[in-house]
Amino acid sequence: MEIETIAVIGAGTMGRGIAYAAALGGYRTVLEDVSLEMLEQGTAYISQALEDGRARGKVTQEQKDKALANLTTSRSVEDVCREADLLIEAVPEEMEVKLEIFTIFDKFAKPDAILASNTSSLSITEMASITFRAEKCIGMHFFNPVPKMKLLEIVRALETSEATLRACVEVGRRMGKEVVVIRESPGFVTSRMNAMIGNEAFYMLQEGIATPEDIDKALKLGLNHPMGPFELVDLVGLDIRLNILEYLHKTLGEKYRPCPLLVQYVKAGRTGRKSGRGVYAYGDNGVKK
Ligand SMILES: NC(=O)c1ccc[n+]([C@@H]2O[C@H](COP(=O)([O-])OP(=O)(O)OC[C@H]3O[C@@H](n4cnc5c(N)ncnc54)[C@H](O)[C@@H]3O)[C@@H](O)[C@H]2O)c1
Repeated sequence: MEIETIAVIGAGTMGRGIAYAAALGGYRTVLEDVSLEMLEQGTAYISQALEDGRARGKVTQEQKDKALANLTTSRSVEDVCREADLLIEAVPEEMEVKLEIFTIFDKFAKPDAILASNTSSLSITEMASITFRAEKCIGMHFFNPVPKMKLLEIVRALETSEATLRACVEVGRRMGKEVVVIRESPGFVTSRMNAMIGNEAFYMLQEGIATPEDIDKALKLGLNHPMGPFELVDLVGLDIRLNILEYLHKTLGEKYRPCPLLVQYVKAGRTGRKSGRGVYAYGDNGVKK
């Protein structure tokens, strides 16, 4: 089917980035959230990201104007369901919330519409199971910050059809992403690998092997990682990383047991940049202290 309109549910960190990529890719784009504040912040973020792209010569003035004209917002998921050809949910990483959204999608979306989740680790097959269109359910895992990150991991659930897969690969290309297609498995490729590296870094910190700065430096300069594991987890959110590890531990076994130090940081409210403190501390301007 021809995808013309994309609805993004959830205007948080990821939803606003996905809406940016969709609008810039030429799709009519509706960004939906229950929170008016998140919608306002989301649209401000998209305008700023387009302006930054224009200033850096990556986006032309014409592309910026078209992208802004393509974008609308809504606070009614039922309404956006009725008009979208592809629905991408980016609500919090909890299966109950995802199942609620997929139930609404299935009830109100056009019969042909594709239902996608941006989950970092949860089972798309489980989300698909509560719909009457499992063949149209798929994972579209974007990366933070979406405007800058090249990869889109497309996750094929048990019953995802070839047609659904092809349509989403094409959407990814039009959004300017490099696409990899993988068979569903907990944590997919990227979250599983990342969780393992990040957890190991916390064990090293707990054992007093090195300072956070030196562990980050070692991976950046010795292994050519663009960011250190602690810089990255502060960006992603320690609470989100912990949720992923708990899920991997439950589904894949002992080697994914979350490091006690990570659990303790989350209990202390040190969730990363968003709370001003994770492994590192950040000032009001978001700059590392
Ligand atoms: N943050 C990351 O780096 C990252 C990367 C890849 C994937 N993900 C995944 O993306 C999803 C969203 O993560 P995030 O970091 O953007 O979360 P977030 O907390 O920043 O945003 C979630 C948004 O969903 C909204 N919301 C909650 N319930 C809703 C509902 N019923 N209907 C509509 N909106 C609702 C909230 O108001 C909020 O704006 C999660 O599944 C997460 O695992 C996150």
